[in-house]
Amino acid sequence: MSTLGNESGIARRNGQLWVEGVSAQSLAQTWGTPAYVYSRAMIEAAYQSFVDALGSRPHLVCYAMKANSNLGVLSVLARLGAGFDIVSGGELQRVVAAGGDPSRIVFSGVGKTAVEMRDALAAGIRCFNVESPSELERLAHVASHMGVVAPVSLRINPDVDAGTHPYISTGLRENKFGIGMQDALDVYRRAAALDSIAVHGIDCHIGSQLTSVEPYKDALRILVDLIDTLASEGIELAHIDVGGGQGIRYDDEQPLDIGAWADVINEAIGERDMEVLVEPGRFIAGPAGVLLTRVEYLKENEGRHFAIVDAAMNDLIRPALYSAWQRIESVVDQQRPSHEYDVVGPVCESADFLGKARELAIAEGDFLAIRDAGAYAFVMASNYNTRPRGVELLVDGKDVHVVRERESVESLFELESPLP
Ligand code: LLP
Repeated sequence: MSTLGNESGIARRNGQLWVEGVSAQSLAQTWGTPAYVYSRAMIEAAYQSFVDALGSRPHLVCYAMKANSNLGVLSVLARLGAGFDIVSGGELQRVVAAGGDPSRIVFSGVGKTAVEMRDALAAGIRCFNVESPSELERLAHVASHMGVVAPVSLRINPDVDAGTHPYISTGLRENKFGIGMQDALDVYRRAAALDSIAVHGIDCHIGSQLTSVEPYKDALRILVDLIDTLASEGIELAHIDVGGGQGIRYDDEQPLDIGAWADVINEAIGERDMEVLVEPGRFIAGPAGVLLTRVEYLKENEGRHFAIVDAAMNDLIRPALYSAWQRIESVVDQQRPSHEYDVVGPVCESADFLGKARELAIAEGDFLAIRDAGAYAFVMASNYNTRPRGVELLVDGKDVHVVRERESVESLFELESPLP
């Protein structure tokens, strides 16, 4: 995915894996495992690919920080002038803590509380992506109470099939997301009539890990029709937020071509004078991360080989939750006999696997890397089985920044108490 040369991304050189100028082996030895390691240069390059593709069209790239909300990662993007797509008051606080600009925040999500709305209005965010008529009324109420006007766009559910895993598909009528086309006009009219609401734009997000531009094309056609109908009623929209969902290569998929994707957007919008907002998460953070883990035991059961590693489903739940496939490789090439291994963790669940039937030449004590673990990895980690979450490292050239320390076991129960 990255346009970076080998030296500045995550790549194999001379028989081992490197994260920019640091070998993955030395990272694992120095900081221990499990360790999530991110490449600053890859995050920057992926962000830049959106900026370059959108070119002269006014735009704002709002990183969907749910993919990876580590303050170190956010600060890299904040320094580039990125916007942020948030889905909670907690994410708002993270942006501020990382030095991000609240006026570049869009707030998505179906369940915004009144408190979250108030905090976001007080921070002066760019726009609320409103997902239901009730949410609109609540926001109007909160804003009017504060004596301010809330900027909104409506998230439209265009009922298109994103052709992705059902758990990460969001643009179909049966999903909980957005406002259906049959209600969209009425909700816009209502929004335009409310004193404490300013209608700024339109929004949609149809799903995640899309590797074709066709679903974007389908959704935009529907949105642009609505934009024109609204304009004929005197409701002029200033921006169109096309959501995130740009797919990456985990296995042999073709990652979404951001140039072709931008062409689709420009074609759909045509001469209309509109700013484009985009909310990529995975595309920016995914390929820029690896999860390093250590082989604790090799074991054979009835002819099946297992590699039991020190990372588990609590550290990376995507394989268990979505049957997701992520590349697993030795950190250092070894001349050993190879077998097909199920790579599993120590958690007491049969779903605790990171990969199945992987050809690996490994011995106990070796380190493995799970690739493309920059997105939806640490952020979805849990402490199941009282397992402290791993350290997070951000590599910048030859420098290694500990952007989150490994958790201590004590910290996992410090909010608890036994009965007196
Ligand atoms: N905007 C909205 C409103 C979203 O709900 C999402 C993701 C994004 C943007 C960013 O989507 P992305 O560019 O990352 O595809 N945990 C799942 C993915 C869940 C995506 C949720 N929404 C996974 O690990 O595959």
